[in-house]
Amino acid sequence: MKIELQILRRENAASHPYWQHIPYECENEQLTAAYALREINEKHLPDAAGEPVRPVRWECSCMQKKCGACAMLINGVPRLACDAKLTEAVQDGIVRLEPLRKFPVIADLTVDRSIMMENLKTMQAWFEAETLADETVGALTYDASRCLQCGCCLEVCPNFYAGGTFSGAAAAVPAAGLLSALPQPQQRTFFRNYRKYFYEGCGKSLACRNICPAGIDIDRLLVHSNAAAVWKRRNAFRLRSGEQL
Ligand code: SF4
Ligand code: SF4
Ligand code: FES
Repeated sequence: MKIELQILRRENAASHPYWQHIPYECENEQLTAAYALREINEKHLPDAAGEPVRPVRWECSCMQKKCGACAMLINGVPRLACDAKLTEAVQDGIVRLEPLRKFPVIADLTVDRSIMMENLKTMQAWFEAETLADETVGALTYDASRCLQCGCCLEVCPNFYAGGTFSGAAAAVPAAGLLSALPQPQQRTFFRNYRKYFYEGCGKSLACRNICPAGIDIDRLLVHSNAAAVWKRRNAFRLRSGEQL
């Protein structure tokens, strides 16, 4: 199957972006966007005008949907390139590859996602001492631990932008695994940070539903975390003060 790969190119953060069209022979239906990018770079495939293509800068590591490095927009949808089969993604013979738009571009399809780590640090999403997870939330903790920090959920989130105080689901998902397991008083600080950096900025639109390439049930985790960090605490406070619920 012949397709055309259209890649949004940019030599560096300061340079002007342009589309490059590259004819590509998709030899079987298992080939992914990541495979095609590798082949373009390794075989120095030409563009539609027959000119050699400057090596495309993009990130990858595992090539098995395990690291999140290869997240990009594929025909407008945030996906992992190593999970995007060309024959499934193609529309009108074209597969468009663009960098994620919510992050600063470094070059071509490579973006700077360091803000996600900064947001986890701001939220203090870590254990300060060895802790045994609460078995009653084991499945939830496991689900939360599968987050690849790929950024796909931030790409579709109407409330997230790099540099803002709202951390988005990419911080709230790992946080969900910690909420119930953290010891006091770290839990109190963490609950406060969760409310400040996630709950108060989240519009509850659930645009992040069903977008996670790791298959994490994001809205289930958010419901659990919102209950633990906000509503159960508020109700407990009101009960302690003798207020009728
Ligand atoms: S929750 Fe899913 S989409 Fe969001 S960063 Fe983690 S792995 Fe990616
Ligand atoms: S529910 Fe909406 S605002 Fe909240 S994290 Fe998901 S996409 Fe963003
Ligand atoms: S290269 Fe690791 S998820 Fe695609």
